[in-house]
Amino acid sequence: MVDLWASRFSEPMDELVKKFTSSIDIDKELYKYDIAGSIAHTKMLSKCRIIKEEEAERIIQALDKIKKDIEKGKVNFSQKEDIHLAIEEELIKREGEIGEKLHTARSRNDQIALDERLYLREEINEIISLIGAFQNTLLEVAEKNLGVIMPGYTHLQYAQPIFFSHHLLAYFWMLERDKERFRDCYGRVNVMPLGAGALAGTSLPIDREYVAKLLNFPRISENSLDTVSDRDYIMEFLSDVALLMMHLSRLSEDIILWSSPLFSFIEISDTFTTGSSIMPQKKNPDVAELIRGKTGRIYGSLISLLTSMKALPLSYNRDMQEDKPPLLESIEIVKTSLKLYPRMLDGIKINKEKMRKAAEKGFFAATDLTDYLVEKNVSFRKAHQIIGTIVKECLKEGKTFQELSFKDYQRYSPLFQKDVFERIKLESCVFNKESAGGTGKKSLGKQIKKAKKKLEIAFSG
Ligand code: ARG
Repeated sequence: MVDLWASRFSEPMDELVKKFTSSIDIDKELYKYDIAGSIAHTKMLSKCRIIKEEEAERIIQALDKIKKDIEKGKVNFSQKEDIHLAIEEELIKREGEIGEKLHTARSRNDQIALDERLYLREEINEIISLIGAFQNTLLEVAEKNLGVIMPGYTHLQYAQPIFFSHHLLAYFWMLERDKERFRDCYGRVNVMPLGAGALAGTSLPIDREYVAKLLNFPRISENSLDTVSDRDYIMEFLSDVALLMMHLSRLSEDIILWSSPLFSFIEISDTFTTGSSIMPQKKNPDVAELIRGKTGRIYGSLISLLTSMKALPLSYNRDMQEDKPPLLESIEIVKTSLKLYPRMLDGIKINKEKMRKAAEKGFFAATDLTDYLVEKNVSFRKAHQIIGTIVKECLKEGKTFQELSFKDYQRYSPLFQKDVFERIKLESCVFNKESAGGTGKKSLGKQIKKAKKKLEIAFSG
């Protein structure tokens, strides 16, 4: 078949140009949205008496059949320009002149916008539910390991001891924000573009609201020019994916560090690690590393589309076809990462003793000792100075806070009482961080409750 748009040309398209301009290898993935859009469009054309009811019925039946045939691999996509033309050509091949009526009052420019919006709506919902499932695993692992204490870090230096569960739940809240962002993005994706035509709208008496109703869109786009030149919703989606992947990448970094022999806090199960082809002893955290690595690809996708779009005059330009490879690839990466993570985390073996030993290092009680003096009415700066001096002298003598005698403490400040030894125990330093959102025992309990509530609301609503 010659190209559907070929009548104004005298010569066929150059073969390399044909290959270069074709997007079928990628946009064939959108076939079911393209068909759903075409069916809704056909119903509208018939309702508005632009085509006859019988014609619409034939088109819809044929489109349903084409969809099934695509799923059975029976429709040949090779040599096609894009999914829109491929399906329309197939329809015309099967239905002749009636099939030629499908594209009435429509352009591929509003059609692709519709396909992408329909596609993204589904993908966003799936991503949101995958995030929810991962949050659920984070909560479960946090609850299973309630008493486990680990060092908390700033600058990757020992800072203050915390509950391991508190560390895990930090990711719960990052993911909660990610979910909110995707929900928000969904609202801007969920706008019906069809009817914008090539760019100007149409002189035919179409009913855009009806198409919106059929496809479950709460509203239609307001400006035909904007409609066909808008890819904001894809860039917004990709930014949300970039943030989510950044979170997964940071978790990966934690997992990689914790599983390294330098830390030995956790062991990743054999099913989620790989060996070395030369060093027989190696067990590598490749899944975490690849999630961290693929985050770079996701950023690339966002930047690539932002760059493609930045100097396009209104309205549609073929450059915009380049939105699909980064979009589809990003979705594949983010969904696979979200599927892998809960399974990897669930299978992790936690080495409590190693975590505790590490938490006991490095003057973990320094801030608590400062607070101890503050409670006795010493100014914070003064208290900080006193404890700083104790640290300095301990370092000189190779001692820890726990090894100092009561007399030693008194030498630094007469305000130190015997209860200071209770205060500098590892457990005390973790349990007592009861400010809202702190790692303390009760605070953590409250946090877990709130996290559970968030998930319950998500599941019920
Ligand atoms: N394959 C095109 C894309 O993805 C569809 C729209 C083409 N429109 C056109 N006038 N050539 O953007």
